[in-house]
Amino acid sequence: MWLPCGCTSKYVASSFARRILASHLHVSGRSRCNVAAFMPEAAGFEGVSGRAALRELSVSNSESFWAAVARHRLSWSIPFHTVQDCDLSRGKIKWFEGGKLNVSVNCLDRHVHTCPERVALIWERDERGSEMKYTYRELLEMTCRVGNLLRRHGVKRGDCVTIYMPTCPLAVASMLACARIGAAHNVVFAGFSADALAERIRDAQSSTVITVNQGVRGGKVIELKKTVDTAVESCPTVKQVFVAMRTDNPVTMTARDIAMEEVREQKMLKEDVVCEPAVMNSEDVLFLLYTSGSTGKPKGLVHTQAGYLLYAALTHRYVFSYHDGDVFGCVADIGWITGHSYVVYGPLANGATTVLFESTPIYPDPGRYWDMVERLKINQFYGAPTAIRLLLKYGDQWVNKYDRSTLKTLGSVGEPINTEAWEWYHRVVGDGRCPVVDTWWQTETGGICIAPRPSDPDAEIVPGMAMRPFFGIKPVLIDTEVSGELLTSNNTSGALCMAQPWPGMARTIHNNHQRFIETYFQPYPGYFFTGDGAYRSEEGYYQITGRLDDVINVSGHRIGTAEIEDVVCPAVAESAVIGYTHSIKGQGVYAFVVLKKGIDVKEADLSRQLNGMVSEKIAKYASPDFIQFAQRLPKTRSGKIMRRVLRKVVESDLEGLGDLSTLDDPAAVQEIIQGHEKLLSKNRP
Ligand code: WTA
Repeated sequence: MWLPCGCTSKYVASSFARRILASHLHVSGRSRCNVAAFMPEAAGFEGVSGRAALRELSVSNSESFWAAVARHRLSWSIPFHTVQDCDLSRGKIKWFEGGKLNVSVNCLDRHVHTCPERVALIWERDERGSEMKYTYRELLEMTCRVGNLLRRHGVKRGDCVTIYMPTCPLAVASMLACARIGAAHNVVFAGFSADALAERIRDAQSSTVITVNQGVRGGKVIELKKTVDTAVESCPTVKQVFVAMRTDNPVTMTARDIAMEEVREQKMLKEDVVCEPAVMNSEDVLFLLYTSGSTGKPKGLVHTQAGYLLYAALTHRYVFSYHDGDVFGCVADIGWITGHSYVVYGPLANGATTVLFESTPIYPDPGRYWDMVERLKINQFYGAPTAIRLLLKYGDQWVNKYDRSTLKTLGSVGEPINTEAWEWYHRVVGDGRCPVVDTWWQTETGGICIAPRPSDPDAEIVPGMAMRPFFGIKPVLIDTEVSGELLTSNNTSGALCMAQPWPGMARTIHNNHQRFIETYFQPYPGYFFTGDGAYRSEEGYYQITGRLDDVINVSGHRIGTAEIEDVVCPAVAESAVIGYTHSIKGQGVYAFVVLKKGIDVKEADLSRQLNGMVSEKIAKYASPDFIQFAQRLPKTRSGKIMRRVLRKVVESDLEGLGDLSTLDDPAAVQEIIQGHEKLLSKNRP
């Protein structure tokens, strides 16, 4: 039984103390005490005597579990009356209704009350060795100033502010300022092109954009303000653009631009450092974040206040075994969900010191991460397999040069981590003493769902496997071929679905709830479908086998093949884009292109042009590694491109071409195979 609603953490602490005392007297009390030491609010659960039992309860009695955690870990201005009201068959997800709170208060004010001078952010600027620290008090002040500024310029509760900034303190303060005044934020990764930014601004119906004059990454200057200028030309909703100064170079300002720094010296200083937080409902929107799906149009996933924050905080605390005083180093950009949950919201909700990494893994040299670990004394390092694979190639000396003795846990996210990279990360980076947690999750899930930890401290970790579901997560595998049958045995593979809702999951797709239902809840009624396939081992551990849809993952960045195909070029009649295994990026982009009849261009020129167009319309990372020109594409008799065949050709698995009986003209496959071989021989060193 859980403590009654309204019970304070003080009560939990004293009940916890009583149990500790009890453990010295009764053996039966000891295991329960261990659970309480591990998770204080679990002291209220009768009969839960170990971590396994706690996990069991979090699934079998998820309402009690989440209610206890939500009361203990969030500060509410009004307590919730209903733990959850969800119906997966209808895509309805609501948590903690009746509850009111403010996310920025949870991330800032409550820590300012207890430890104002604790460092909240360490900004690891692109220029090595020039890091800057911001305490919780300073971050709260910065957030309040931005909040007051936005309010003064008419930004209201329920509006959506687009943030197009590099990872920096003002970007974090802008996110939190939106949360403070009840506006939603829409952070767009600063590597996206003007067209991609404009599409996201329009879809989000933002009237306010926040950016910087220029970004700096890997020693290069990036013209972010210019990109915004181009983008907003096609965004009639945009009324104002706030411009902060990351470099000293002035940029052209237009009538709609407002210089944040001037504001800082002249007006923003006048902005009060007190900004009344809006009292938000649990299910009000906290942010939109666009991600790629299997159709051409990116989707704005919506996360709400309480459930998202709670889930980010709990996973941050337990997957990484974060403890008070640790320095948490997640090197993701704030433009992705990993940056939202594990650079900003999770760590700040837990009062952690979190690192904002502005640079690249190899700037100015391949020792950058480990130099930073030594300098900032990082305890948990969370990065992407693509970077690990890249650094592995540069050799151990770049790692060994630096003192990494502060490291306790290493994390991996975004794509499968192959065994070689996992072993290197564990053995070289972690000196064989730090657990490596391969964390599986998605923009849609809000936080980590499957990871080797938390588990008993000495529980085995299998390389390259995400392994164990987090508290409250109930994964299932469903047969993709035999009418969606639930696969109950181990040593089996299927579509990875979730059988139960959890507080961190996305609530809808902005302006398109129907697409939300169709994508995630209709494929397997009653379940949330992740879009990924997974294998469950003999021991019951999960291993992700990859996407089941037309989404590919380039260096941990999701991109829909259709998005790339949709970049139209006048010379192209049709195209098919597929992902292939790439030794560093995980997946690379391979495009098959059929030209219009009578077009006379040099293939090399057109390749260059097509690459440029993809960079311009989407982002550089989506630009094809290979473009194969073909006379035609293999199609079924009903005219559908047989991507399965193209995939096999690119993976050079001609044995695995499979059933070709539905092909319209088998000769098309032979042409594709020959063209592929020609392209490969041209590109061999
Ligand atoms: C993939 C990133 C294997 C997966 C947090 C998922 C992974 C997509 C892993 C989500 C992992 C993420 N092992 N694959 N540990 N983590 N993925 O939305 O295909 O950018 O569906 O979220 O990345 O990407 P997203």
